[in-house]
Amino acid sequence: MEKTWLDLDYKPRLPNNLRRGIGIIGAGEIVREAHLPAYQMAGFNVVAITNRTRKKAEELAERFDIAHVYETAEEVINDPHVEIVDIAVTADLQPEIVELAAKAGKHVLCQKPLGDTIESARKIVSLCKEYNIKGAVNQQMRWTPGIRASKTIIERGWLGELTQASIQVNVLTQFENWPFLKEIDTLEIMYHSIHYMDSIRFLYGTPEYIYADGARYPGQQVKGETRTMIHMKFPNDTRGHIHDNHNNWANQEDWYATFRFEGTDGIIKGTNGALYNYPVGKEDTLSFISKKIDPSYWFTPKLSGKWFPHAFMGTMGELMRAIEEDTQPENSVEDNIKTLQMVFAAYQSMKENRPVFVDSI
Ligand SMILES: NC(=O)c1ccc[n+]([C@@H]2O[C@H](COP(=O)([O-])OP(=O)(O)OC[C@H]3O[C@@H](n4cnc5c(N)ncnc54)[C@H](O)[C@@H]3O)[C@@H](O)[C@H]2O)c1
Repeated sequence: MEKTWLDLDYKPRLPNNLRRGIGIIGAGEIVREAHLPAYQMAGFNVVAITNRTRKKAEELAERFDIAHVYETAEEVINDPHVEIVDIAVTADLQPEIVELAAKAGKHVLCQKPLGDTIESARKIVSLCKEYNIKGAVNQQMRWTPGIRASKTIIERGWLGELTQASIQVNVLTQFENWPFLKEIDTLEIMYHSIHYMDSIRFLYGTPEYIYADGARYPGQQVKGETRTMIHMKFPNDTRGHIHDNHNNWANQEDWYATFRFEGTDGIIKGTNGALYNYPVGKEDTLSFISKKIDPSYWFTPKLSGKWFPHAFMGTMGELMRAIEEDTQPENSVEDNIKTLQMVFAAYQSMKENRPVFVDSI
């Protein structure tokens, strides 16, 4: 079908060669529910997998037709058919696996958060540079239909000068269901709002400073913060705001996950469908108005695809395109450091009750 001027070009771009071998480290929930279903949709070629408990890797190998199950990450990395190592274990284990992959000359798709400290994330960046491999991060919310379509609208100038961005979420998330999250001190921003920070940075650039507040909820079953308010100041008069509560005890009709991006000439408003009816989710919704097109008409294009799993085609597809074209992926490990600086600035702000400049991290 011929493209029209209103085509928002929001679908993940895929490489010409879909068949580069992928080896997966970790066969947990995110691989089962998002990586593998997305790769299957895209036609990517997963050739090997490993997991600490071998049985989990075997189950996924059978379900998704993966030829080799290995005992260790090293064996996956050394499989000559593996060109890309897809890491899906916790952040503390990531540098060691990246080092093995880099020394073997294999490209890596790391999980978010890239590091549990800024130093370990920077170490990953140095390893990728030193061994001249491509390193990308699975910070995939940028590839949700709502955020990608917003990027197109902004790039076409339909919002004019950007004035404010806000993402608001009020749902019930049972973080205690993820054992590795239960005892973590830094929870909501590090594991959830990190996606919102990355998306806002993708659309608005990197803020100058962050002023954040985080709170717990009476009787919550996890250690870290589960409610956050994050204020972002960009140069001049541009502002951003994230407001998240994961303790909504009301029924799902009351839940919401919304975004709103505003400029002098236009407004975008929409919903992040994945958080409705989780984990099944709905499609994202988006409406926009622009003085540059028609100051009285809200366009409401119908978007297809979701954060989970569709956006995972975007992160891996981008890395594959970068390998193909010998460029840096948009979600490079280096780029992701800026998102992590925002995250750590937010935690420092919470601790010291003051705005923290992002570039001080
Ligand atoms: N991008 C996203 O939106 C997103 C969403 C959820 C989770 N994650 C991230 O993905 C990672 C995994 O999350 P999950 O929910 O799948 O957790 P999980 O606990 O379900 O799975 C992790 C798996 O890794 C295995 N493992 C641990 N160390 C290993 C090793 N050295 N070698 C091989 N296997 C090993 C474990 O046995 C487990 O099966 C976390 O870092 C999390 O932050 C990202």
